Amino acid sequence: MAEFALGRSCAREALQALGAALAGIGIGQHREPLWPAGIVGSISHTAGIAVAAVAHADDFAGIGIDVEAARVLDPGLASLVCRPGELQRAGSASHDEGLAALLVFSAKEAVYKALWPILRCFLDFQDLEIMLDADLCSFRVRSHSPLCPPTLAAAVHGRTMLLEEGVAAAAWIPAPVPGSSLLPG
Ligand SMILES: CC(C)(COP(=O)(O)OP(=O)(O)OC[C@H]1O[C@@H](n2cnc3c(N)ncnc32)[C@H](O)[C@@H]1OP(=O)(O)O)[C@@H](O)C(=O)NCCC(=O)NCCS
Repeated sequence: MAEFALGRSCAREALQALGAALAGIGIGQHREPLWPAGIVGSISHTAGIAVAAVAHADDFAGIGIDVEAARVLDPGLASLVCRPGELQRAGSASHDEGLAALLVFSAKEAVYKALWPILRCFLDFQDLEIMLDADLCSFRVRSHSPLCPPTLAAAVHGRTMLLEEGVAAAAWIPAPVPGSSLLPG
């Protein structure tokens, strides 16, 4: 409950910094935050840390953020979250498979939140592949599911960050140019 309030407080600060009208941020049917009209945003909290990001919907179709407290994902969970190639690639870049798995996990949660306003459907961890750059700071996304068209996955940009307390990830999808759509058909 305290983290929920902290997240909402961060979100209100972010709205103020953007110059957006301050309005209540409701809770959607799928627990997604309900932003004021014309705004996209995202909230994350863990272990006493909360973060929020907002943007104008004219600029971004979706944004997602995630923070994760430092921990080693156990191998069973890591293999549920990560596709085989994903873990190998990130693990060999970081020489630390536990850290690599946590980064992939955080990136997937951020991407899921960024895609939500566009797809509004559940995606499994195996549905998307996170392609972390060699420096592990940025990533692109590939879809392995008919639920997420390949062109939409390719439109996602992502960043990851190592924190003292854990890891964080952000994902964003630029708004399509007027007259075009991120979804086929
Ligand atoms: C929704 C989900 C991503 C939240 O992540 P989490 O690590 O549990 O928790 P976080 O603190 O990072 O995020 C919680 C915030 O996510 C937001 N959120 C919840 N459901 C959401 C949704 N469907 N879309 C966008 N944001 C959502 C809420 O703002 C919530 O905070 P609040 O309850 O205080 O408003 C996670 O619970 C989930 O359902 N994951 C399964 C789906 C998934 O990640 N698939 C991966 C596809 S590759």
